[in-house]
Amino acid sequence: MATAEQIKSLIRSHLSDDDERFYTLSLQLAAHEARQGHGALAHDIREIVNKSRRTRGSNNLLKFPQVLSGMVLSEKSDTSFATLVLPKPLIGRIQRIIHEYRQQAKLKKHGLSNRRKILLLGPPGTGKTLTARVLAHQLRLPLHTIQVDKLVTKFMGETSAKLRQIFDLIRDQPGVYLFDEFDAIGGDRSLDNDVGEMRRVLNALLQFIEQDVSDSMIIGATNNPALLDRALFRRFDDVLHYEVPDEEGRRRLIENVLGSFKSRMGWKSILKESEGLSHAEIDHACRDAIKETILNDKKKVLTLTLVQTLHERNQTHQRR
Ligand SMILES: Nc1ncnc2c1ncn2[C@@H]1O[C@H](COP(=O)(O)OP(=O)(O)OP(=O)(O)O)[C@@H](O)[C@H]1O
Ligand SMILES: [Mg+2]
Repeated sequence: MATAEQIKSLIRSHLSDDDERFYTLSLQLAAHEARQGHGALAHDIREIVNKSRRTRGSNNLLKFPQVLSGMVLSEKSDTSFATLVLPKPLIGRIQRIIHEYRQQAKLKKHGLSNRRKILLLGPPGTGKTLTARVLAHQLRLPLHTIQVDKLVTKFMGETSAKLRQIFDLIRDQPGVYLFDEFDAIGGDRSLDNDVGEMRRVLNALLQFIEQDVSDSMIIGATNNPALLDRALFRRFDDVLHYEVPDEEGRRRLIENVLGSFKSRMGWKSILKESEGLSHAEIDHACRDAIKETILNDKKKVLTLTLVQTLHERNQTHQRR
């Protein structure tokens, strides 16, 4: 239970109308209870605080300590689930994350917790960041992207301290926290390409992830799975693998992006030309084709136009 000091401080902050102090103290209380193993109570306290914050319009997107500025980017996501084109099993696993999050109280009653530490692996432009946006939107949480490369290179000596501050935020301000370019920090500890400092940072990160009992969603994303240490995988509740889209995925993506610009398309040549391209590259080619169509004062994208823009993407792709 709360200590006498905590109760007195809470009363004091309430009587002096200091909302922010009251919120902070309440969250400290929640953390205190979580440490005592009272997860459900901690969760309830955070819920009360966040509900009040939302209704009073307090903007919790901007409450980062100054030292973290430039390392954490915050946004309110409005990306709908329908934009995400992925194979059915992967969609199912994302839906399960959402479902468990929404039903977490039910799970907690049985001593279980919802999956909320997720690792996303796969080549560039296949929807990892997009998935984090969709999750944030679906769960009505702000999305905070931690730029891991900045965290490591800029503040080498202080990185562990920064990590601690980030995990304090994760605890105090529920949100979707995306550790992008996760491999910048998660490099295989057996690779001898860095000094002890990096190893310490990685160990600190592993510990923070393991100890975290917050209500936030922690997402790691990387396109370099070979670099990731096995110890990292164990820390996550779910590991999702992303791939470049197959025929069906390419067709759905193109139909989605072209929208009302879609005409009767010659799918055979389009699917052939788009083979091996990522979602992001196909998305780009579709937008190029739409632009050209608009500039030519036409209403529908011609197969030929799209094949041409896909071909251009393909050439850039191969040159890389
Ligand atoms: N699975 C997908 N479904 C629909 N659109 C996608 C998908 N993947 C990527 N896109 C499109 O490409 C853009 C970039 O994708 P995203 O940022 O999610 O890639 P990523 O996997 O995070 O890549 P990186 O490894 O480079 O960070 C998205 O904003 C979206 O327009
Ligand atoms: Mg990304």
